[in-house]
Amino acid sequence: MKRRVICAGVEWLGVVDWNRRLFDALIPLPDGTSYNAYLVRGTEKTALLDTVDPPMTDQLLRQLEDVPRIDYLVSHHAEQDHSGAIPTILRKYPEAQLLCSPKAKPLLVDHLDLPPERILTVEDGQELSLGGKTLRFLHTPWVHWPETMCTYLPEDQILFSCDFFGSHLATSQLYAGEDPEVLQAAKRYYAEIMMPFRKIVAKNIEKVRPLELKYIAPSHGPIYDRPGQIIAAYQQWVSDRVSNFALVLYVSMHGSTELMVNYLVAALADRGVRVQKYELSSTDIGKLAMDLVDAATLVVGTPTVHGGPHPVVFAATNLAKALRPKLKYVAIIGSYGWGGKEPEQIRELIPNLQGELLDTVFCKGLPRQETFSALDGLAERIAQKHAALQDVSPQKEHVRL
Ligand code: FEO
Repeated sequence: MKRRVICAGVEWLGVVDWNRRLFDALIPLPDGTSYNAYLVRGTEKTALLDTVDPPMTDQLLRQLEDVPRIDYLVSHHAEQDHSGAIPTILRKYPEAQLLCSPKAKPLLVDHLDLPPERILTVEDGQELSLGGKTLRFLHTPWVHWPETMCTYLPEDQILFSCDFFGSHLATSQLYAGEDPEVLQAAKRYYAEIMMPFRKIVAKNIEKVRPLELKYIAPSHGPIYDRPGQIIAAYQQWVSDRVSNFALVLYVSMHGSTELMVNYLVAALADRGVRVQKYELSSTDIGKLAMDLVDAATLVVGTPTVHGGPHPVVFAATNLAKALRPKLKYVAIIGSYGWGGKEPEQIRELIPNLQGELLDTVFCKGLPRQETFSALDGLAERIAQKHAALQDVSPQKEHVRL
């Protein structure tokens, strides 16, 4: 793909990675991704903002064949999907100075073995003139790693945001327009890498929100040509509001736990609670993360294995803890074969759950009427708790975003 003009003196370049299906050996990418870089040319100097994932370096070099000089290479984020081609670019352009936040410098040296003398750190709010184009650097930590920053170009009202506001979406479209698929992909990406830091992300949103913005140009996914939409979506995601929404995660070895889960899912739906069921042996954890953004309740269904929860359940709850969602309530249900732990022991064996424990419902072998009655009681408690939440969002907001 050739460079594409955003406005005079500002171009997109980079790679659409249509076939990538996994990130960080963990995160599913059902729709691929892109690695966006940007070229900004002033009357005196030229800057390249970010690079691409290392295996894609040749494509970036082809896009730069007719660019004779780069004075500044800006690294917004030291992770290799944006920084991986920096060593090659610095060799191609020996005059180029690498600019980054103070926290990024040691990371770039450690991860890419870069010579420290080529790196110049920039302070929060510092400006650099390229001649008619000004780069204003804004420190926006924890929009993935601690060193992340953005660049604002006031003359063209563009915010180059790297992971912040990004989406893992492979598309030939340069702009997001009003495509709801982009917002969904952005929500998934926020959930996967930024949700644990949502209070800091909220401060970063407030930092960039007053800027005059025609475009937000992230380093994954399309450019936002209606930036107000993605900023409003982020404001909702980082807020303390949850939805009238329950997630049920479970595995079942011989069907008893699944019978309980199916009963509870129906009982919740009958009481007006939106519910999403995840069978963990075949779950897309990115979709699960996305649903954790605004779920009020998490129900974990597990058989007892060697006196504790199923290892797959343990792994899923560990991930849920790492993502630090806004969950208010938790419940645990399941079945055991010949001997079960007391509910509190089961709770202790799943130490990663956050939120108030509403109930535990366990049975020996197949669930019978007594168990189903207990599940009705649990569904009723969840519905009542959700109804009492002062900050619950209307269901339609959840569906829209
Ligand atoms: Fe797209 Fe945190 O790298």
